[in-house]
Amino acid sequence: MIALFLLVLYSTSCGVHSEGQHVHIEPLTDNVLVLKVLSGVDNKVYVPLTCGAAYQTQSVFWKKDGMELDPPLQGNQVRVLVEQMDGGNYTCHLGPDGQYLNHTVILVQMDSDNRSLILEEMSPTEGHIHCSAPNYKGDFHCTWKRTQYRSHAAVLLVKAIRNFEQIPCQLDADGSGVHCQDVNCPFREEQLRIYLTVYIHSFSRLEVYTKVFYLREIVKPSKLSNLHLSDGNVFSWNYPDSWETPRTYFALQFQVKVINHGHPCNTEENVLHNITEDTTYKVDVQRKRYIFCVRAQDKYTNGPWSHWTHCT
Ligand SMILES: *[C@@H]1O[C@H](CO)[C@@H](O)[C@H](O)[C@H]1NC(C)=O
Ligand SMILES: *[C@@H]1O[C@H](CO)[C@@H](O)[C@H](O)[C@H]1NC(C)=O
Ligand SMILES: *[C@@H]1O[C@H](CO)[C@@H](O)[C@H](O)[C@H]1NC(C)=O
Ligand SMILES: *[C@@H]1O[C@H](CO)[C@@H](O)[C@H](O)[C@H]1NC(C)=O
Repeated sequence: MIALFLLVLYSTSCGVHSEGQHVHIEPLTDNVLVLKVLSGVDNKVYVPLTCGAAYQTQSVFWKKDGMELDPPLQGNQVRVLVEQMDGGNYTCHLGPDGQYLNHTVILVQMDSDNRSLILEEMSPTEGHIHCSAPNYKGDFHCTWKRTQYRSHAAVLLVKAIRNFEQIPCQLDADGSGVHCQDVNCPFREEQLRIYLTVYIHSFSRLEVYTKVFYLREIVKPSKLSNLHLSDGNVFSWNYPDSWETPRTYFALQFQVKVINHGHPCNTEENVLHNITEDTTYKVDVQRKRYIFCVRAQDKYTNGPWSHWTHCT
């Protein structure tokens, strides 16, 4: 880092912009190259591209984002000049208007630039990615939200890693989340965190978001089921089906609330408010119409609360 800084100082103080010195080129996937550039510096770099060993003897022509280049770019191995954020999708073809052979996408990632233009911050504590799991078995789901002006941004790659091992993940169809399946032993104390990294791009701009967490921090019970009024004023409900067993070991605690008709469960204005470990609650209030709300939390970790379930 210090060396890089000195290099920047040196080149600016001499007034030279030797091409490429502020840029690192790193492959991200087979067909994607990332230029890591310093923001606020004139960036100009020649990037070598190869159509592929299979086409060594062919007459290869290149296009950028589907457009022919001027002057034409020809050859299996070429160099393209990338200035500032001007990456793109370089495709190689058989002859000037010929068949598509291969492609390389050049993206630009601003180092030393903490601005997040692509994803919205969920909250200061949560950051840009929200993750949740219904139990301790290892299944979890993470979501993010693109900002209004980058709604077209596309996810290139999601990596989830624990202890140097890749956790298999599947991107949601709308590209706004990912579902991962780790193998986890619910009975053992979790020692190492999960590192989730999302690579997302809007045109040539690549942004990388990371979330680091223990599964136990994101385990949120599903909504309670079968909430009903049994005996006059006694409400009862069940543990969520997705919750761990045995229930003595994986106990939940419940927050119950009685609120006035027409209010949402998360209102601060409650008639009654209590915590219980039972799955029944006897309501003692002198009114005919009210709403009974209940939600659950892991009793031992005090992790996230479930969504509310209510009964009128
Ligand atoms: C296509 O290009 C990629 C990236 O340069 C390269 O790894 C791959 O081998 C090429 N495919 C073929 C069929 O040559
Ligand atoms: C780049 O172009 C190729 C060929 O048209 C296409 O298959 C690929 O999805 C494009 N990639 C991106 C990131 O635009
Ligand atoms: C980026 O974040 C780092 C640490 O989080 C901070 O030291 C640095 O000043 C930030 N840079 C900018 C340009 O905001
Ligand atoms: C809270 O609930 C417990 C039973 O779970 C009950 O004994 C106690 O009286 C309740 N407290 C209030 C303030 O209603």
